[in-house]
Amino acid sequence: MSASQDVRIGGAATVAGVCGQPIRHSMSPVIHNAWIAAAGLNAAYVPFAPGEDNFETFVEGLRGGAIRGLNVTIPFKEQALACADRCSDLAKLAGAANLLIFEADGTIVADNTDGPGLIGAIAAQAPGFDLTTSPVVILGAGGAARGAAAALALAGAPRVSIVNRTFVRAEAIATSIAKAKGGVVEAASEDELDALLAQAGLVINATSLGLGGGAGPAARLELTPKNAVVVDMVYKPLRTEFLRRAEAAGRRTVDGLEMLLRQAVPSFEAFFGVTPPAGVDVRALALAQLGDAAT
Ligand code: ATR
Repeated sequence: MSASQDVRIGGAATVAGVCGQPIRHSMSPVIHNAWIAAAGLNAAYVPFAPGEDNFETFVEGLRGGAIRGLNVTIPFKEQALACADRCSDLAKLAGAANLLIFEADGTIVADNTDGPGLIGAIAAQAPGFDLTTSPVVILGAGGAARGAAAALALAGAPRVSIVNRTFVRAEAIATSIAKAKGGVVEAASEDELDALLAQAGLVINATSLGLGGGAGPAARLELTPKNAVVVDMVYKPLRTEFLRRAEAAGRRTVDGLEMLLRQAVPSFEAFFGVTPPAGVDVRALALAQLGDAAT
């Protein structure tokens, strides 16, 4: 490759990024920059880690198009929605945004691509699974659970039960989503979990349990119907203890990396106006970055 072909970031570059605290382990820059390179775009995707109290100031400073947009991750997804002037129905229903676009007229537009990422990952790794006939159990009630519950409710899941260590957080999600969706989303207590698992078509770990290799949620996955699908949003390690237990019980599994890769697609399209080029194996790139955690 000649030096001139190697230089892609010129003065007219479109800049986007990912914002979280901490951000150093984010895989999004690897994914987006691989697509940018393959598409030959004059563009860059960079990490930002404002202090926890500075997110709003940081975002306000980007109004008017200082950069094109941001993906937003822990712990800023709820604040991101609050900063926006307009948002998609899904972000509104979720009460959280993982995508901000800075329009030239100074407005900020929010969206949530986590839920579509989840649904895309299920379609890819558990083909044939019918969301519209499957009761869902979501473990956890943070930002990740919000996006999942909203997307599944919109996709027609017959019932979404949220079980969380801190019950009031599950209740808060259920109340805000059920109001818009006619009661399909409910908060359930940990005492009800076994009975819910026995009916569940889909079980999702949206807690942080299992991150870094520890034990996942203690839910008894063997109680689920044999055709149930088990999803873990944790992708470090890729094969979490929770997914290993699901596999040992003979259940189909969907990993968090697939969800991460799929939420990135609509974000890339919103930033750069083109679809990610085919032929880039971003899963392999992400697995290489995960290193030992990829097994
Ligand atoms: P995120 O935005 O990724 O969802 P979060 O808002 O910090 O992150 O949420 C983390 C989730 O993991 C919460 O549901 C949390 O439960 P609480 O609401 O009770 O805090 C759950 N979680 C974290 N550690 C846990 C633990 N040791 N046992 C049970 N749940 C845990």
